Amino acid sequence: MKLKNPTNKITDLSLKIDKLRIPQHIAVIMDGNGRWGVNKGLSRSHGHNKGVSVLKNIIKFSKKLGIKVLTVYAFSTENWTRPSEEVNFLLNLFEKVLNKEINELNNEFIKVKFIGDLSPFSENLRNKFIEAENITHHNEQFTLNVCTNYGGRQELVKVAKELARKSISGEIKPDQINEEMFESLLLTSDFQDPDLLIRTSGEKRISNFLLWQLAYSEIYITDVLWPEFDENELLKAIIDYQSRNRRFGGIKSVSNQSLKSSLSFG
Ligand code: IPE
Ligand code: IPE
Ligand code: MG
Repeated sequence: MKLKNPTNKITDLSLKIDKLRIPQHIAVIMDGNGRWGVNKGLSRSHGHNKGVSVLKNIIKFSKKLGIKVLTVYAFSTENWTRPSEEVNFLLNLFEKVLNKEINELNNEFIKVKFIGDLSPFSENLRNKFIEAENITHHNEQFTLNVCTNYGGRQELVKVAKELARKSISGEIKPDQINEEMFESLLLTSDFQDPDLLIRTSGEKRISNFLLWQLAYSEIYITDVLWPEFDENELLKAIIDYQSRNRRFGGIKSVSNQSLKSSLSFG
């Protein structure tokens, strides 16, 4: 009988990857933690804990594969509507994970950024976010964007307000507003749009994630719940991505990079 060897499984799938067409920016809606915990006869919190260890593996593996930016949805602006015990558990978990992992992330040359409105968090937690960004800001190899209290609509409203203010103060004229200016005010202005969006747990929706930035991302949805997502599942997503024909509205396949440099909409 042949024994199951997960390492071999990863090697098999790795062979199918085109190393020259690795998505540079992957966004992930890490969904299904609660259901995983409950399905196991445990609590939703168990699912969140397991979700953190999965994220650690996926960060390491993404970096190894040559992905440059990983943007993960950790807490949405709508997640505050959950029972307060769950919200508090998640906030404590953020703090625990930051205390435990930030030095290791830094040792692995990973830059960590928090994307979202951080103002509703406690001063203590906000300071942890800032500290983590400061400790890792010089790292260049790989960026982990953690979307915390992030909402795509709220982000677009924030940009609209800033543009309105600039127009009123005379800094810009309304007619000068174009995609480039709009984009420069997004929370993700330092990054190219995601090439690939992965959503776990089978839900076929965006749930207010990166509404502007996902305009032309390839979407990969898997039924696997986030706590069961592993290196092999990431390879499957990338292989699927590499089979896509990215046309960006044209008729020929183009890379995101070349599209950006060839088109400029006013
Ligand atoms: C995703 O898992 C993590 C967060 C939203 C914080 P969920 O907690 O949404 O798990 P399900 O979707 O209820 O199973
Ligand atoms: C999206 O998952 C948010 C995060 C993964 C942090 P949700 O579980 O909140 O989304 P819905 O409620 O299924 O749309
Ligand atoms: Mg969910």
